[in-house]
Amino acid sequence: MNKTVKLLYEEHETIINAIDAAGMAKSLIGKDDQAYEHMIRTLLVFFRQYADKYHHYKEEEVLFPEMCKRNELIAEGIVREMLENHEDFRKKIAQIERSLNEKNFSRTQSLLIEYTEALLDHIAVENDEVFQVAESLFTEIELDKMYYQFIDIDVAIGGGKKDELKELVDTLRKNILMAE
Ligand SMILES: [Fe+2]
Ligand SMILES: [Fe+2]
Repeated sequence: MNKTVKLLYEEHETIINAIDAAGMAKSLIGKDDQAYEHMIRTLLVFFRQYADKYHHYKEEEVLFPEMCKRNELIAEGIVREMLENHEDFRKKIAQIERSLNEKNFSRTQSLLIEYTEALLDHIAVENDEVFQVAESLFTEIELDKMYYQFIDIDVAIGGGKKDELKELVDTLRKNILMAE
């Protein structure tokens, strides 16, 4: 795997860990609502910042535009679909937050599961199709150039904060396991 694709793939792995934590949070409802609310707020921060700002931003600002320049069919097909998914994810996160603010935890959890299932499907399409198309469209040098653009994006948003968000998810998962 080329290092550019690997970076995105590894970000997907971190997002999948957060999705796992989202599923585990259900056990807290009715048992420790305050802990549930806190956990979901933390996950919302993760999904908004890590999944959207650090990760989707790289795809939207660097990878997808380059793919579209190469091939119009890709622009109108798979890339458009991926961009629509990103938009839907943003709306869904806002919906989850509203439901959490209303302290409707069972609805919050079912919206969260709808979101994470759609996100898992999205990640599978990118891993299995989009990244492979990208590796076939670009030379190693072109891919390397994108890698450095990705690193620039991380530095611009804050590289240290990205690691903190990743650790936050690991801590959340441990906390849920301990509470069970
Ligand atoms: Fe994406
Ligand atoms: Fe992605």
